Amino acid sequence: RRIPIDPVTALKGQYPHFMLKEIHEQPEAITDTIWSLATLDPPALYFDDLGSAGDRLAAVERVVLLGMGTSLHAAMIGQRYIEAFAGLPAAADNASEFRYRDPVLDDRTLVISVSQSGETVDVLEAMAVARRAGALQVTVCNTEGAQTTRVADGTVYTRAGLERGVASTKCFTTALVALYLLALRIAQAKGRLSEEALASHLHDLAQLPRAAADVLRRRDQIRKRAVALAAAQHVLFLGRGLAFPVAMEGALKLKEVSYIHAEGYAAGEMKHGPIALIEPTFPTVAIATQHALRSKMISNIEQIQARGGPVTGVITEGDAELTALCDAVITVPAVSSWLEPVAAVIPLQLLAYDVAVHRGCDVDQPRNLAKTVTVE
Ligand code: G6P
Repeated sequence: RRIPIDPVTALKGQYPHFMLKEIHEQPEAITDTIWSLATLDPPALYFDDLGSAGDRLAAVERVVLLGMGTSLHAAMIGQRYIEAFAGLPAAADNASEFRYRDPVLDDRTLVISVSQSGETVDVLEAMAVARRAGALQVTVCNTEGAQTTRVADGTVYTRAGLERGVASTKCFTTALVALYLLALRIAQAKGRLSEEALASHLHDLAQLPRAAADVLRRRDQIRKRAVALAAAQHVLFLGRGLAFPVAMEGALKLKEVSYIHAEGYAAGEMKHGPIALIEPTFPTVAIATQHALRSKMISNIEQIQARGGPVTGVITEGDAELTALCDAVITVPAVSSWLEPVAAVIPLQLLAYDVAVHRGCDVDQPRNLAKTVTVE
C-alpha cells in the first residue's frame, strides 16, 4: 500500500522547514558558487555571464552596491571587499533610498545590484536610475533570467538553488562568495591582483565549505543559547568591521522569524544610544570573530557586563580569553579574516531558527512578510 506524500513535505526531505534545509545546503551552495566562477588549478577566474561589462571594468573609478534586506547586508560586506582588493572607493546603499535621491553617477561608476530574486521593485527602480545616468551595471542574482539580469550589462550568478524560506540564508552566504570573487575580478581588471594573491584567495575560499559544514555540526551549543534567548523581548547584536553587517543580518533573521525585537549595531555606536537599554533582561549577541578588532570588542563586552547585561559571544574556537569573559559562547572554526562573515552568520541563522521554533512560530511563512517584494 502506498502512503500518499504531500509534495511540499517531500521537497523538505528530512527537514521540518525549508529554512533549516536551506541553512544546511550552504556548504554545497558555497562550493557550487565558488567553482562556477573560478578554478584552483590553474588559479583563474571565469565570469561567463559578465558580457560587455567584463571589458569595461578596467575603466571603473568607483563602485556603488545596492540591495534590500539581507541582500543589502551582503552589499555592505561587498563594499569592503572592493575597497580592499580593487582599491576603489565603494559604498553600499539601500536601493529604496537611492532611487529617490539624485545620486552622482557617470559612465565610470560601476553599480552592483544584489538581489536573490532579481525582481525586487526598489532594486529595479534604482537600476533604472543608474541606467539613465549611464553607469555600468552588474547584478549578483540567484535566479536565471530574472529582471535584474536583463537590465544589467552583466550578471554574476550565485548557485544556491531555489530558496523557498522567506528568510534568506543560503542566498546571503553565496552572495558573499560571489562578491568576493567579483572584487577579485575587478582588482584583476585594474592590474592589482598578482597570480600569487589570486591563488592565495582561492585557497582561502576552498576551505570555506568545510568550515560551513563544521559550524552546522555545532547545533547543540546554538540550541542551548536559543532556549535562553527565546524568553527575551529585545536582543542587541553588535559587531565591528566585517562583523557589523553580520550583526545587522543576525538581528534581521531573529526579528523576521521569531518576532523578537532585535537591533544590529556597529559596536562603536554602542555608547551613542544602545547602552542606555542594557539591563539584566536585555541580552546582547557580540560577534567577536574579527581578529583585528577583537580587543575593541572585548572592551564593548566588558562595558555591557558592567551594566548587568548578559553577553553571548560568537567567537573563534580556541579563544580562551573570550570564552572566559562572555556569559556564553558560540564557537566557529577559524577561516581567513575576509571570510569570517560566512562562518559567523551561519550560527546566527540557526539561532534565529531555533528561537522561532521554540516560540512556535511558522519560520517558512513569517507573518506579514513576502519572499519577494515586487510592489512598494
Ligand atoms: C524580502 C525577503 C528577504 C530578502 C529581501 C530582498 O524582504 O523577505 O529575505 O532579503 O526581500 O530580496 P532580493 O530577492 O532582492 O534579494
